[in-house]
Amino acid sequence: MNNKKIIYFDNASSTKPYYTVIKKMKNSLSKNYANCNSKHILGLFSKIRMEKIIFKISNILNCNYKDLTFTSGSTESNNLAIKGLIKNKNNKIKKVMSFENEHSSIIEVLKEIENYGYKIFLEKINSKGNININNLERKIISEKIDLLSISWVNGEIGTINNIYKICEICNNNNTFIHIDATHAFGKIKININKIKADLISFSFNKSHGPKGGGILYVNENLSFSSEIKGGNQQKFRSGTIPLYILEGIYESMKISTINFEENIKKISYIYNFLKKKIVKLGGKINGDEVNRIPHNLNFQINNLNKKIIKKMKKFFAFSQGATCDDFFKKKSHVLKSIGLKKNEIKKSIRISLGNNNKIHEAKFFIKKLNFFLKN
Ligand SMILES: Cc1ncc(COP(=O)(O)O)c(C=O)c1O
Repeated sequence: MNNKKIIYFDNASSTKPYYTVIKKMKNSLSKNYANCNSKHILGLFSKIRMEKIIFKISNILNCNYKDLTFTSGSTESNNLAIKGLIKNKNNKIKKVMSFENEHSSIIEVLKEIENYGYKIFLEKINSKGNININNLERKIISEKIDLLSISWVNGEIGTINNIYKICEICNNNNTFIHIDATHAFGKIKININKIKADLISFSFNKSHGPKGGGILYVNENLSFSSEIKGGNQQKFRSGTIPLYILEGIYESMKISTINFEENIKKISYIYNFLKKKIVKLGGKINGDEVNRIPHNLNFQINNLNKKIIKKMKKFFAFSQGATCDDFFKKKSHVLKSIGLKKNEIKKSIRISLGNNNKIHEAKFFIKKLNFFLKN
């Protein structure tokens, strides 16, 4: 099958890197191949380039460059955030809170540390996918929660958490806060200096950067411990720095930042078109219709079935739940957490839009969906 003909609507799983990201990465691989830690002139060139990139990235995020740890993506950043914080005895962490709809790289870590004696609070969200801020505050105070781990944007239904308010609550109650910002970069403006969070996870394969390119922001005042031990190339993560990935991360961040407004406008237009047509076909949006990023359109339609989905997949790449959760083995825990029944989950599709999508692709999607639903 010629994959050029398949229209890509699975950008929440991963995005196509920008052309210049690939170009910069290739260039870096062939030119700056020396180890950034090597004590010779080529190593020094790599080191100088690495420091320049980290500095530029910290400028985009508005934080101290020393607070950035480069990782392989958000799975690693989330693991490191929670384990690196609780492991440091200065933090005296006993109680950790999160939500049922969080990514498996949070939920599974919490299950693991529960076995070590930490008390875990996995809270419910409402049928729109929103959290109740008052309940959150009450629980943080009454249970004396030590750490809250929460996503900025949900990857499956696109709902947005009020991170500024949540950080304020945590800061007022001496609760550490970790934000999983995997689906926020490029979709929501991020200014770390304003957020006042302790830890923030990023993964740039979701915003037209390289796969294997992540960051964990660790606030400089935090007592924190590393997980992967070795040569101490980074304070909280050992291993040779993959300079070409840093190069790709920076290039993708730069382009996403320059084109931010234009991209949001274009994607909102496609989202509004799709939503209107899907509702007209009898569809219902999963998750809050207003409080969401326009990049995500998760919906269910009554007579959508396996056969139609199979036919649609000949033309379009979309998903039905988080890709990492292996949909074929497990039904989406996020759709379950907003109260969808098994048969509603089966009738649901997630379209996730990226900066490359065009309105004519959305029109073609509706045309095909309409045809297959009627025939
Ligand atoms: C909310 C969220 N956090 C973390 C991850 C894991 O990111 P990565 O695949 O880059 O490790 C994902 C992946 O989709 C996600 O949706």
